[in-house]
Amino acid sequence: MKAFRAEILSVPEDPATAGPGAVRHFPDGLLVVEDGLVVACGDHAALAGRFAGVETEALAGLLVPGFVDAHVHYPQTGRIASHGEQLLQWLERHIFPAEQAFADRAHAEGVAAFFLDELLRNGTTSALVFATVHAASVDALFDAALARDMRIVSGKVLMDLGPEGLRDDVAQGRAETEALIARWRGRGRLGYAVTPRFAVTSSDAQLADAGAICAAHPEVLMHTHLSENMGEIAAVGARFADAVDYLDVYDRFGLVGPRSVFAHCVHMSDRALGRMAEAGAGIAFCPTSNLFLGSGLFDLAAAADRFGVKIGMGTDIGAGTSFSVLHTLGEAYKVCQLRGCSLDPFRALHLATMGGARVMGIADRVGALLPGQEADFILLDPESTPLLARRTAGAPLHDRLFALQVLGDDRAVAATYLRGRRAHARGGM
Ligand code: GUN
Ligand code: ZN
Repeated sequence: MKAFRAEILSVPEDPATAGPGAVRHFPDGLLVVEDGLVVACGDHAALAGRFAGVETEALAGLLVPGFVDAHVHYPQTGRIASHGEQLLQWLERHIFPAEQAFADRAHAEGVAAFFLDELLRNGTTSALVFATVHAASVDALFDAALARDMRIVSGKVLMDLGPEGLRDDVAQGRAETEALIARWRGRGRLGYAVTPRFAVTSSDAQLADAGAICAAHPEVLMHTHLSENMGEIAAVGARFADAVDYLDVYDRFGLVGPRSVFAHCVHMSDRALGRMAEAGAGIAFCPTSNLFLGSGLFDLAAAADRFGVKIGMGTDIGAGTSFSVLHTLGEAYKVCQLRGCSLDPFRALHLATMGGARVMGIADRVGALLPGQEADFILLDPESTPLLARRTAGAPLHDRLFALQVLGDDRAVAATYLRGRRAHARGGM
């Protein structure tokens, strides 16, 4: 057993619906961990007696749950910041050529290692990750995640209508997916996601097969893209002329349910949002990506407040422009401003932790440092740059948290802990 004494903040519920009681803040807090799990988290004065004999480490900074990145592509790490296109042209010109290189296992291993270390440097401890069409790209990622004890959910991309060199077929997609599910089931903190890339790159037969695989394996997630960019939406509308809308395409193939995660959802009708809420499906809000590709402005108020859809945050590397979930929240604030709503920093922290955990179906395991959850946490340093130090000096928690989101990035993550063990320290372990 070990205890950590620090200023502690977590937001287990959405303050927009649960009210200010959703915020758990202990200016002088104690987090007690045993076998990697949270035993207690609260006020130091209230807990110190009960845990008097326990080794206690004092930590400087604001201790919050590790971030959950609910949508990110590890094979696109090296193509971040590729200039000049919107989604469909960007995929053709920059992304598909880069993903072809993941046929080589050694290449995949090198990128997976860099990618996971970058997540840890940015305070991300759980993530829902796109691999490539190659089964070995998933093995490489899972091996590296297992070695680091990270909570990673991923899957082989299904894309039988993909470009030459990046295409499977229905039978191969099914066989490789089944083999990966069997190979990785129950290992470490890994999970599997059936991953059709998007409606454009899979045949009707493959989309139906993806639905059948999900039905056969109730524990897996379904992870794809939805209603991101106008060019993409036009292509889907042309191919599926009889579908009510883009979501309906996935619905027809049994791909819309409580374990479905849809990235983007920028251009959604009320019908589609209502259907998502009814099905219990989740959205990954990816503001830096939506701005970078000129896709549009996600409507958080409509999705979350009017319809009650589950929302998490996604960096969406490599269309997204930062691995930092802090920076992503700063951009989310600006997107909400352009949509006429003001994203509260406590709500933002909730979306980036428990919100993402709910979307990924792991809220019983991580997201809020509740007793019984895994002790994945990070230390935020509000003095990590001269400007942050100046802005946050003497400021109340709300201001400090907001400044961290608007001005902070990897530099503000002083340390990252996985199951109570330090996995990253800024400036070296
Ligand atoms: N839609 C289909 N594939 C992709 C991808 O790789 N990135 C993004 N942002 N959208 C997609
Ligand atoms: Zn994506």
